[in-house]
Amino acid sequence: MMASLIGRIRGLDAYPKVNEDFYSRTLSGGFITLASSIVMLLLFVSELRLYLHAVTETKLVVDTSRAERLRINFDVTFPALPCSIVSLDAMDISGEQHLDVRHDIIKKRIDSLGNVIETRADTIGSPKIDRPLQKHGGRLEHNETYCGSCFGAEASDDDCCNNCEEVREAYSKKGWALSNPDMIDQCKREGFLQKIKDEEGEGCNIYGFLDVNKVAGNFHFAPGKSFQQSNSHVHDLLSFQKDSFNLTHKINRLAYGDFFPGVVNPLDGAEWTQHTSNAMYQYFLKVVPTVFTDIGGHSIQSNQFSVTEHVRGAELSRLQALPGVFFFYDLSPIKVGISFPSDVYRDACFLLALPHQCIFTVSGIVDSFVFHGHRAIKKKMELGKFT
Ligand SMILES: *[C@@H]1O[C@H](CO)[C@@H](O)[C@H](O)[C@H]1NC(C)=O
Ligand SMILES: *[C@@H]1O[C@H](CO)[C@@H](O)[C@H](O)[C@H]1NC(C)=O
Repeated sequence: MMASLIGRIRGLDAYPKVNEDFYSRTLSGGFITLASSIVMLLLFVSELRLYLHAVTETKLVVDTSRAERLRINFDVTFPALPCSIVSLDAMDISGEQHLDVRHDIIKKRIDSLGNVIETRADTIGSPKIDRPLQKHGGRLEHNETYCGSCFGAEASDDDCCNNCEEVREAYSKKGWALSNPDMIDQCKREGFLQKIKDEEGEGCNIYGFLDVNKVAGNFHFAPGKSFQQSNSHVHDLLSFQKDSFNLTHKINRLAYGDFFPGVVNPLDGAEWTQHTSNAMYQYFLKVVPTVFTDIGGHSIQSNQFSVTEHVRGAELSRLQALPGVFFFYDLSPIKVGISFPSDVYRDACFLLALPHQCIFTVSGIVDSFVFHGHRAIKKKMELGKFT
């Protein structure tokens, strides 16, 4: 009873097994397997290529996101502007000056051949050097003659100390020690001017990022503003001051946000050489928020931008405009979504699987034909021999 039931169930087996002793591997079967494997590999590669170059889908929607931040990555080289002079300022439409937001800026001093002399972390904003401090407490005005304070060491009321050395002398005459020259306006200025003198003829590479409000704004690289205001008649302290600056620059990289496949940053590699004595270089950028979604559904929030540029050269009046390299950016209200059409993935799977199944089947058929053909010939030959 039990045995016959088992027998019947065994009769249902759709996969009748062949005793391993009857397996026979043939040379022709080997060739067919090899050939079909190569065809499969070629097909796989071509399908994969097709799949990887699948068209992307672009969608335009109104950007309704709020209160986001904008990250500006930059890397700019000024071959003829020393690091201690060049400064970076950023401000936006709200009037907010980005002097103390999250930022990370590195300045690299480079010599005329482009070799790096020194790398230092820096902060955003103009170098802090003001006009000389007058004895009466105010800053030097255009129509005044300079008379600096001796910080308590004056011999008489109309004594002036017009440089660091004179303050030192006045102190030593009194028998006082000048313990902290950094507190003395004259010494501070001279130290700074010495630094500028030391770096004369050098260039500067500035890179890092700015993290700003997502509103229109601008950032600019400019020779320290205070030099613009200072007066030429303040002889010895400002003898290193220049009227003209060479704003020749190269933008190695400027990106609004993270990298995503297919992004083109039009200013990467842009170069400009100044031939006039002064110039104001302006870039006007339209930033387009972009969301890139990859095949796995992973999305990257970033931006693209378009740019137009303008240069104001020789006609630039020193009092009217600041020489510098300005980037004015504005945000597009339209957001671009780049994604792969969702059915591409399914299609790709289908396309990748189908040819392989076909080849397996076809090669199986071919193999059995060849094998049976062989056997039939063999049999015939055997029969011919023995009858
Ligand atoms: C310098 O000019 C300012 C106005 O520009 C004036 O108020 C001041 O009194 C003048 N100082 C001297 C010493 O003439
Ligand atoms: C500014 O510097 C660049 C590069 O060093 C140089 O080619 C150019 O002639 C300079 N321009 C002026 C006006 O000196």
